Parts: sequence; structure tokens; C-alpha cells
Amino acid sequence: MQSSRPLAIVSPETVGAAESPLRVELSDGGSAWLLLEEGVTVAFRNLCPHLDAPLDGCDDETWQPDARLLVCSFHGATFAARDGRCIDGPCRGSRLEQLEVSVTDAGLELRTAPLLQLHLLTPRPGRP
Ligand code: FES
Repeated sequence: MQSSRPLAIVSPETVGAAESPLRVELSDGGSAWLLLEEGVTVAFRNLCPHLDAPLDGCDDETWQPDARLLVCSFHGATFAARDGRCIDGPCRGSRLEQLEVSVTDAGLELRTAPLLQLHLLTPRPGRP
């Protein structure tokens, strides 16, 4: 069920042609990173969970292509492109907010993920 308006609509061809994550402006004033990971298009809000700052707030070096990691330019936290989980840095174990990506006639639509999905993705104390 898609109840909310999309935060952005992007051409699938644009994402497929990008060699690094595509920075997308969102209608709520934020931004997101959109990328193809293992054949699936994923999107993460451009907001580091350490200090709620944009990953690219200090510079544009936010991608390590060989390791498939998004990198925060402030303190170097690294996030797996697969699921947005911080694997190293001051917010290790937390996650980037993953956005829902759906394919429609208009293109790839990005929306805030349903609450249940966010709940399942949020790490709990004592859980790996
Ligand atoms: S603000 Fe991202 S690692 Fe500190």
C-alpha cells in the first residue's frame, strides 16, 4: 500500500547509468542516495545517524566503490550499500534511513518506508 506522496520520482535509466550513488533532492527539503545494489535499486536518506548531518556535508567523497560503502564526510562512518548499516565509525550498528523504492509508470518513486519496516530495521540492544 502506498499512501504517501512520493518524495521524489527518478528515471530508472538514470540510476542504472550512474557509476556511483545518485544524489536525489527530496520534496521535503532533504536528499537521498539512490544506487543499484546487487541488481536492486535501494535508497537511503542522506542523513548520518551520528549527528543527523548530511553524509556529504563536508565534501563530496561519500562513496567507496570497491567496498560498496557510503561514507559520512564528517567523521568517516561507513555504511553498507546493501542495507545502510553502519559497519565502522561513531554510530556503528545504527542504520541510514532506508526509503521505499517502487517502480511505477512515472519512474522510480521514493517514499518514506512504512513504520513496520522501519521497526524491523531498527537495531535492538542485544541483537546483532
Ligand atoms: S556525523 Fe557522520 S560520522 Fe559523525
